[in-house]
Amino acid sequence: MKNTDYNLLLSQAKAITAGEPDLIANLSNLSALVYDTLADVNWVGFYLTREPETLVLGPFQGKVACLRIAFGKGVCGTAAATRTTQRVIDVHEFAGHIACDSASNSEVVVPLIVNDVVVGVFDLDSPSVGRFSEEDAAGLTQLGRFIETLNWPA
Ligand code: SME
Repeated sequence: MKNTDYNLLLSQAKAITAGEPDLIANLSNLSALVYDTLADVNWVGFYLTREPETLVLGPFQGKVACLRIAFGKGVCGTAAATRTTQRVIDVHEFAGHIACDSASNSEVVVPLIVNDVVVGVFDLDSPSVGRFSEEDAAGLTQLGRFIETLNWPA
């Protein structure tokens, strides 16, 4: 499998969001961009902190997914609670993993933090065990740092 060019992906992300202030419009196109760019992924999208310590499903590409995830639950909730990118080689080995799509076998979740508040997470699933390398996690975390600069509500 060809490695993703994360510098190119980041510049494309900047280009497609430039000049558009609407956060949901931008997150929608970003999920489509990443879903189309990365090989071997079956779900790419966002969960947004809509209530205290609760992630609610946001813009995504992929199959119908869980609507709400408490901070601390599953891979997404762990990323939100620990404020660190989670790279899971085999989700079936992750205690408390929330199976939305039974096809998913590996996952990366990047927490999104604005003004010291976890505003959401950026979640990617793959049907292949071990799909995401450390380089992927680093590239996706860099992309997350850019996504944090979008127009998040105060
Ligand atoms: N597997 C995730 C739930 C979200 S879906 O993958 C879209 C988790 O354990 O947090």
